[in-house]
Amino acid sequence: MHISVMGELDSKAETDRLLECINENRGYEIHITFLDANIVTREIVEKIIKLQERNKCKVFVLKAYLYSYFLSLGIKCFFVKKKSILNKDWESNEKISCETFEPEKVEEFLRDIYDKYGFDFTEYRKDSIIRRIKISMLRYCITCFEEFRELALSDQDVFEQLFLDFSINTTNFFRDPEVFTFLKDRVLLCLDSYSHIKIWSVGCSNGKEPYSLAIILKELGMLHKVQIYATDINPYVIEEAKNGLYSIGTIDADIANYKNAGGSKNFTDYFDIAKNYIKVKDEFKENILFFQHSVIEKGILNEFQLILCRNVMIYFDIPLQRKVLRHFYNSLDAGGFLVTGKSEGLLLNDGYEYFVDYNERYSIYRRKN
Ligand SMILES: C[S@@+](CC[C@H](N)C(=O)[O-])C[C@H]1O[C@@H](n2cnc3c(N)ncnc32)[C@H](O)[C@@H]1O
Repeated sequence: MHISVMGELDSKAETDRLLECINENRGYEIHITFLDANIVTREIVEKIIKLQERNKCKVFVLKAYLYSYFLSLGIKCFFVKKKSILNKDWESNEKISCETFEPEKVEEFLRDIYDKYGFDFTEYRKDSIIRRIKISMLRYCITCFEEFRELALSDQDVFEQLFLDFSINTTNFFRDPEVFTFLKDRVLLCLDSYSHIKIWSVGCSNGKEPYSLAIILKELGMLHKVQIYATDINPYVIEEAKNGLYSIGTIDADIANYKNAGGSKNFTDYFDIAKNYIKVKDEFKENILFFQHSVIEKGILNEFQLILCRNVMIYFDIPLQRKVLRHFYNSLDAGGFLVTGKSEGLLLNDGYEYFVDYNERYSIYRRKN
C-alpha cells in the first residue's frame, strides 16, 4: 500500500485521517510519501517508528526539514529531491560574486519577501542575512543574486528553504547552565511571592528552553502557578516543540547541562526514553502555550514577570533591537525581569532607557519603574 500525503498536515482531522489509512492497511508493508509537510505530529512519528520496528514501513520525504527531523528521531527515510531545481550543473570554479549583494538590492528583496510571504526580515542584520542568502544560493547552485531573487519570489519551496536558513534554530536543554542556576537561585525565588506568574520565552526554537525552565520550576514547586508563553517566528519549530520529541544523541550533554544548572534529580526522570529519542512527560505541556509569533509584530502580549529572549536579538539591526526592547518594556510588569543571550547587551541599543542591570555577567535585567 502506498499513501501520498499532500499539504502540511496541520489539522487534527488530517492527522486522524492519515492514522486511519495506516490502520486500515492490516499488516502489509506500507510506503508513505510526504510531499509538502515540513513537520508531522507526535502520533504520526510514533506510529511510523512502531511500524519500522516491524519492518513494515518505508518513508519518502520531499522537504529537507522533515527529513532531518525524522532522521534525528531514528526514522529511516528517503529524501526525494524535486527535479525542477536539481537539473543545474555546477562548475567547481564558479563563485558567488560579492558585488551582487548591493545593500539596496538586498533591502528591496527583503521588502518583496515581506509583501509576498508576510515574513518581515527587513530590519535583520544585513551581514547575517547575506550569509544566509549565500548558503541558500549554493544549495541551488546559483551564483547570481538576481536569478536567486527571482526564484525565491516565484517558487514557494525555494522561499521556504531560505526562510529556514534565516531562522537559525540552534538551541540546547539548559543552554548556558550557569544562567539557569542564577534564574533558579535568585530570579524565580524572587517571583515566588506572586500567586500567578507569566513567563514569555521569545524565539523558543524547538522548545528546549521553555521545557528546561518548566523542569526548574517543577523542582522549585512553582510550576503549578506558572504559565509559560513560548513563541517563535518559525511555525515548524513550534510544532516540533509541541511534539516534545528529541534525539537521544545529545543525552550526555543534556544531562551534564542539567547537572551544571543545579538540577537536583535525574534529567531522564522528566522524559520517557525510547531507543532513539526522548519524549517530554505530558505534565510539562499543561503549563506551556506554544504558538507561532514574530516578536516584531505589533500588539503587546503583556503583564509578564519574566521574559527570556536569548540569542534572538543578535540577528536584528540596532534600530530593531531598540524597538523590541521597548516592546519588552511594555510587556513586563513593573520590576519584571528580562534575560537576553550572554553575548547580547543593552549598551548600543539604548536598552538602559528601559532596564537596569540585575546581573550583568548573565545578561539579566530589570524593568525600570
Ligand atoms: C538561535 S535560536 C535561540 C533559541 C533559544 N532562545 C536559545 O537561546 O537556545 C533563535 C530563534 O529565534 C527565532 N526568531 C528569529 N526571529 C524571530 C522573530 N522575529 N520572532 C520570534 N522568533 C524569532 C528563530 O526562529 C530561532 O528559533
